[in-house]
Amino acid sequence: MTTMALTASLLDLVAIALFILGLHFLNAPPTARFGNRLAAVGMFIAIVIALVQTMGLGWWAIAIGIILGGAIGVIAAVRVKMTAMPQMVALYNGAGGGAAATIGVVEYYVALQDATALDPIVSVSLVLSMIIGSISLAGSIIAFLKLQEVMTGRPITYPGQQVVNALILVVIVALGAWFIASAGSLPPGAFLGLLAAALVLGVLFVLPIGGADMPVVISLLNSFTGLAVAITGFELDNVLLIICGALVGASGTILTVDMSKAMNRPLTNVLFGAFGAAGGTETAAAGGGPQNVRSVNADDVAIMLAYANKVMFVPGYGMAVAQAQHSVKALADQLENRGVHVFYAIHPVAGRMPGHMNVLLAEANVPYEELLDLDAANAEFPTTDVALVIGANDVTNPAARSVKSSPIYGMPILDVDKAGNVIVLKRSMRSGFAGIDNPLYEMPNTAMLFGDAKASVDALTAAVKAL
Ligand code: TAP
Repeated sequence: MTTMALTASLLDLVAIALFILGLHFLNAPPTARFGNRLAAVGMFIAIVIALVQTMGLGWWAIAIGIILGGAIGVIAAVRVKMTAMPQMVALYNGAGGGAAATIGVVEYYVALQDATALDPIVSVSLVLSMIIGSISLAGSIIAFLKLQEVMTGRPITYPGQQVVNALILVVIVALGAWFIASAGSLPPGAFLGLLAAALVLGVLFVLPIGGADMPVVISLLNSFTGLAVAITGFELDNVLLIICGALVGASGTILTVDMSKAMNRPLTNVLFGAFGAAGGTETAAAGGGPQNVRSVNADDVAIMLAYANKVMFVPGYGMAVAQAQHSVKALADQLENRGVHVFYAIHPVAGRMPGHMNVLLAEANVPYEELLDLDAANAEFPTTDVALVIGANDVTNPAARSVKSSPIYGMPILDVDKAGNVIVLKRSMRSGFAGIDNPLYEMPNTAMLFGDAKASVDALTAAVKAL
């Protein structure tokens, strides 16, 4: 082994260790930023190793790629809004799948030009990484378009959908088997047909899934990309790619399963159930919606809050939309100055992405000890004077506990209805993501404070200050 190869292997090991440590630190919000930086250093080392190993090969192309890719990455990361993070992840994820597929295509054409028969491991890994990477690329683009509302977020279904998908899968398997059996010497027409079939399957796989289910789908596609990259590692005999791909694949799979569990929906229901048209549907209104609701004003709520012993903030997607996290922290500070005990109840799928509420509240410097997970929060509600529900809906819906016909029946929820008083901050009587009525709003201990969450919380802070 040359000194250069030995150094590259050692640096590979350092990069891998940094990725694993980075993932470990991402376990808790206080250390997440540090974990992200460690992983970024690992990625920098990985890129430098790749550059040194390809020294002399198309320097200009590599330099242009780095400048363009780096500039797009920096601008996108600085400008993206927190609520648009899932679609940004979808795009980056698609780019990863696309890169794995592109490597497969290039390797195929190189082998074709040199008229070399591919080694069995290379031909199997090439065809697999190209198929999985293409599905991930096309699926991620559709997920992005749905979330960005460029196309409808509603499930797009048509009769015989599963049959069409199954037929395309059969074509892919047949052409893939031909590719392997011919040691990679598939005619270009058939190879391009295989590529096209995989891209079409990616599109058709995501079309019937509702926009609001996209975080689960993106996480699943993320695990596909990880798998495609790991397989590309076998194709190129690159250990770094194999391990990084495996890490992405495994973490994407765990996240997908965790999200489905937290919604108490089997993954098959998310993928094939066509549930969850984009949030805020008219379904509730169409069904009449809750009628007997009590509306209150900020001054009345401020008195309730200021003289309470324990207040529980229950944030949800609406807090993210209103970007109310800093206002919420200011209100908490006001209340704590008056001796009120303030806590935050965090539901695992509140918002639209894993850890959504934790990230927003950490951004507003809310102390981590004040965040209670589902079980801890539910233990506190019976002794809570006021539960202030800030743009959360489905995660507080008591129908999940008792109405067997409800689409969210069985989903663990925050038992806000068990608090002494419940104040719900939202703009209207529209439903949340699941498109269903929330009986919480008609309960005798519940009152609605209508308006944008940020404006309402600011009004509450001003009113508490004035007391
Ligand atoms: P939702 O049930 O979607 O309810 C959000 C509520 O916020 C809406 O009822 C909306 O009512 C209100 N809202 C929107 N903008 C607002 C604003 N500017 N000011 C005040 N209120 C506003 O949210 P949730 O309770 O957080 O539940 C999350 C849902 O997403 C669950 O059903 C979950 O299963 C699903 N989901 C979550 C994830 C992850 S990983 N978090 C992934 C996939 C699906 P108005 O329109 O009347 O204001």
